[in-house]
Amino acid sequence: MAARCLGRGVGRLLGGLRGVGVRALAAPRLWSSASASVAPPSSYQERIALAAREPAAFWGPLARDALVWDTPYHTVSDCDFRSGRISWFLGGQLNVSVNCLDQHVQKSPESIALIWERDEPGTEVKITYRELLETTCRLANTLKRYGVRRGDRVAIYMPVSPLAVAAMLACARIGAIHNVIFAGFSVGSLAGRINDAQCKVVITFNQGLRGGRVVQLKKIVDEAIKVCPSVQHVLVAHRTDNKVHMGHLDVSLEQEMAKEEPVCAPESMGSEDILFLLYTSGSTGKPKGLVHTQAGYLLYAALTHRLVFDYRPGDVFGCVADIGWITGHSYVVYGPLCNGATSVLFESTPVYPDAGRYWETVQRLKINQFYGAPTAYRLLLKFEDSWVKKYDRSSLRTLGSVGEPINHEAWEWLHRVVGDSRCTLVDTWWQTETGGICISPRPSEEGAEILPCMAMRPLFGIVPVLMDEKVNHPVHAPCPTPLLVLPPWPPLPSPPHKAPMQGLLLEGKAPLGCLSCSALGPAVWRTGDGDSFCLLGVQGNVLEGGDVSGALCLSQAWPGMARTIYGDHQRFLDAYFETYPGYYFTGDGAYRTEEGYYEITGRMDDVINISGHRLGTAEIEDAMVSTAAAGLGAESESVPHLCVFCPAQADHPAVPETAVIGYPHDIKGEAAFAFVVLKDDVGDVDVVVKELRSVVADKIAKYAVPDQVLVVKRLPKTRSGKVMRRLLRKIVMGRAQDLGDTTTLEDPGVITEILSAYQEYK
Ligand code: WT7
Repeated sequence: MAARCLGRGVGRLLGGLRGVGVRALAAPRLWSSASASVAPPSSYQERIALAAREPAAFWGPLARDALVWDTPYHTVSDCDFRSGRISWFLGGQLNVSVNCLDQHVQKSPESIALIWERDEPGTEVKITYRELLETTCRLANTLKRYGVRRGDRVAIYMPVSPLAVAAMLACARIGAIHNVIFAGFSVGSLAGRINDAQCKVVITFNQGLRGGRVVQLKKIVDEAIKVCPSVQHVLVAHRTDNKVHMGHLDVSLEQEMAKEEPVCAPESMGSEDILFLLYTSGSTGKPKGLVHTQAGYLLYAALTHRLVFDYRPGDVFGCVADIGWITGHSYVVYGPLCNGATSVLFESTPVYPDAGRYWETVQRLKINQFYGAPTAYRLLLKFEDSWVKKYDRSSLRTLGSVGEPINHEAWEWLHRVVGDSRCTLVDTWWQTETGGICISPRPSEEGAEILPCMAMRPLFGIVPVLMDEKVNHPVHAPCPTPLLVLPPWPPLPSPPHKAPMQGLLLEGKAPLGCLSCSALGPAVWRTGDGDSFCLLGVQGNVLEGGDVSGALCLSQAWPGMARTIYGDHQRFLDAYFETYPGYYFTGDGAYRTEEGYYEITGRMDDVINISGHRLGTAEIEDAMVSTAAAGLGAESESVPHLCVFCPAQADHPAVPETAVIGYPHDIKGEAAFAFVVLKDDVGDVDVVVKELRSVVADKIAKYAVPDQVLVVKRLPKTRSGKVMRRLLRKIVMGRAQDLGDTTTLEDPGVITEILSAYQEYK
């Protein structure tokens, strides 16, 4: 079947590979005993223990056997959470696209790599590994012809499609860095992400199709690149037959690809060269461009894909996530393709044309593993069970959930109705930052129990630690006397919660006193350069045992984790390694049961999760504030300020103050509630609120628009001017009687004021 998206002529089989870029490839295996110099660990427990105790001994042989290398690595890892240094497989050279394509083409070129489940049911397109390699090579050659070199950034603003996958792999092939931007993002988000990464080329479609509706992708790109001087070319592929305006930077991707050879020599990349950037929200307004590198990321995605979902050769793997998110990167593209799997690309929505879409697709494509989001499950369970039951789901073995906590109703429905109580259901916890799944009921010992709504078991090499939530941000002070020179701290044969920490005195639970100046209370750590510091004010104690809740940290590096924030390493350190020195802080809270299982309780920072989409409340606030500067204030700016990365000046006279909080929502999980202060003379308040909503949609995305907007006279602030969102949250949750400590409020009267505005609004 000729794929529309592969373009005229490009999708055809074009003869055998001509030798260029194809090497003699050894058959990689996970845990192959044949090539290992030491006997690999055999049981699950042994593997878990080895990965926690001796990460290098665990990951080294795995990486050597599971990936195809040009040059073997010489050092397994060099990681230090105190200084934020994370490197894996140093000295190694490889190409990710060779691992995802060439190695499989050599063995079975006609096996199916992708099934593109297009918007209209029953119009799926199958793409073999050979076709995908050829398409990737043509695209890679096109990129090269348009000036893209190793290390250059390429923005991919495309919905899930074989060409989008080929675009990612084409970047990997030539050593360019892809920056996939979710095709549901608006002009502002797109422009911000292109600018921050300084992308040279944008790859997009003329239009998208989703749920029977046309999405004007090219138009959004046209708007965005008006403020993106780094963009030199826009490569436009065609998803529909509709013509779109083509400007002087625009070229037709299919036409250009047809001029190219279907072979392209892969660049040999260092393990730690950047593979991609992926932007995600943090607790401040500016999204973070997380950096993932080559070997470690690929290994982790492939290993977790295989083990969490019990993927077996020949299976059809159905992850319905968009490639614009990390789930799409790791479990639509890199993990499945590295494992030679058949991966489904789902273009549609859970309810198009009706609520049976997922299960009709499962039946038609004989999907073995289905991986989706709680928000979709919550939506679907509201419909009759017959929408599920009328389709044959006997192919399904594993069901997965990701992106937000799954509630009991959704878990039970998925397990009982969709899975007929016979499928393995895995609630998987991870983040854009972690690269792959970190906590999940599988892998485990054969047949081990799975408890509802719990991610449960840390994966190999993931060492969770729960911290006392009462933490003061540490103050770093140089230690007055040099640290006693210790011999290399011996790795402690410790249970997960007592990680080896160089230079820290660990006694019982908490780090005690500085080894050098004997300051009481503060901890001390020594940086990689040998400097020593006291950490004053750190109160984060490691919580031991079961039946405890705390801040979820990970104490040991793993190959799949992000290495830095693009262009801002300090922000990386501040966001993840500052709160609990020596630990990666996830931003989530978690509960540990008596048995040692983990349940994620939700974000501890100002990040909310709307329909599985991660958003900083500050991002929405910034959008509304700068909107006001552009639109409502009218005096100084006539063009709306669109780039979300550089909000307009906040001290504009018409800028309202806003405070956004998340509150529980039936389907979306969380929704945004905005408290807005407006100037007296802004005119019709309803018009202003409408405008605020539409600018959030334009600047970020439709899903970011607050469900509720309440105009208030003032916000509750501390004497130092900090907005106390905690109090607003309590009011919205109907817990105004129990506001907790309000003594720091500048004027307690503000609460009565907001409460009465809220009662009236309700
Ligand atoms: C945040 C990460 C992981 C890929 C998709 C989201 C929340 C994720 C779960 C889960 C409870 C979860 C966390 C996390 N989250 N999975 N199984 N149970 N919460 O990636 O956009 O980077 O968001 O999503 O709060 O920190 P992301």
